[in-house]
Amino acid sequence: MPTSRKPAAPKRDVKARPAKPVTLRRASAAAPSLDSCACIADLEAIAKRKLPRPHYDYYAGGAEDELTLDANREAFRKIFIRPRALVDVSRIDTGTTVLGTSISMPVMVAPTAYQKLAHPDGELATARAAGQSRTLMVASTIATHDLESIAKAAGGPLWFQLYVPPERNIARDLARRAEAAGYRALCLTVDTPQLGRRERDVRNGFTLPPDVRMMNFEGAHRDMPRRAPPGTSAMAAYSMALLDPSLTWDAIAWLKSETKLPIIVKGIIAGDDARLAAESGAAAVIVSNHGGRQLDACEPTLAALPHVVEAAAGRIEVYLDGGVRRGTDVIKAIALGARAVLVGRPVIWGLAAGGQAGAHRALEMLREELILAMKLSGCPRIQGLGPEFIAGP
Ligand code: FNR
Repeated sequence: MPTSRKPAAPKRDVKARPAKPVTLRRASAAAPSLDSCACIADLEAIAKRKLPRPHYDYYAGGAEDELTLDANREAFRKIFIRPRALVDVSRIDTGTTVLGTSISMPVMVAPTAYQKLAHPDGELATARAAGQSRTLMVASTIATHDLESIAKAAGGPLWFQLYVPPERNIARDLARRAEAAGYRALCLTVDTPQLGRRERDVRNGFTLPPDVRMMNFEGAHRDMPRRAPPGTSAMAAYSMALLDPSLTWDAIAWLKSETKLPIIVKGIIAGDDARLAAESGAAAVIVSNHGGRQLDACEPTLAALPHVVEAAAGRIEVYLDGGVRRGTDVIKAIALGARAVLVGRPVIWGLAAGGQAGAHRALEMLREELILAMKLSGCPRIQGLGPEFIAGP
């Protein structure tokens, strides 16, 4: 096509001109809008600008050298998709079920604590956003709204994440309350006999402001101490009373005797533990290393997934979390045998960037990317994904 071109401007002798300092102006001093965000990393950039540094670090950080935090992402970078050509992808179906509950895409919201630090509406906004996206949210034991209020706000299905304190009656009461409030399953987190050492929190003296409280509890468990013993964090001190390091596989049978809800074991990496979970009566496992916040140098979740899937042998459902940031990551995890994935930080970044609308945007970004990746991979249905879509190593 002919294009009209302006005649080239005569070259100037730049060296002859006096050197003037160049002032670079920012495009805008205001934080970029949600609409200008192209991907989860853009939401994180807004969250980073908006949040006080210790709060951003609390969300973003991992344990010790953050080897596992990085490795979770790296594991996704290392494997590639092998697409198929000339498949009719005019209609894409991302829908699936988890323990019999329909969700519009295989991306759920992982339990994350203290969401009021990200936005005053905290877990209520996240629950509404998950409902808007027709997916499932897992509410944390250490939420900053109580589980009944989250259930009232939610427009979609919920699971409740359970930490079991040494006083078992606390966990039993939480399980019963969750069942009464309409939660459909309990996620027992098993990678946390003690809190991992999150050094950013130690350096920042991270603690919660007085208006951010753990609303599922009464009394001593409701508030984090304002100060930490030297060399540790207030959260580490708080969590000592919340976590029972003597917990073993018997806990599943005990929990099953206290509730009719199915039990999901969250924090499985070894195939043998998936087998034990199935034999203990769990309905599902989540391959998770807590987003790299517990055992540093723990195997990344995508690398652990095939072993867990093999050990589960179709007896229990297998989900994965840790480092999922793109639609293509979802495809990789599903192709390697996960039934669905969960995302933690991506929703937090959305929540911090724009409350319910931001959390919803994060989920919709992942949906849009997933649909595009399914089209470009030549796989119109989520159930059609298998290991043949994965290339090496
Ligand atoms: C978590 N996670 C977590 N898990 C859990 O069982 N109970 C909890 O209260 C929390 N709290 C929590 C807070 C924050 C700030 C983060 C980042 C994570 C772990 C979470 O459920 C999930 O395993 C990871 O977040 C998944 O990794 P990505 O998606 O954040 O990379």
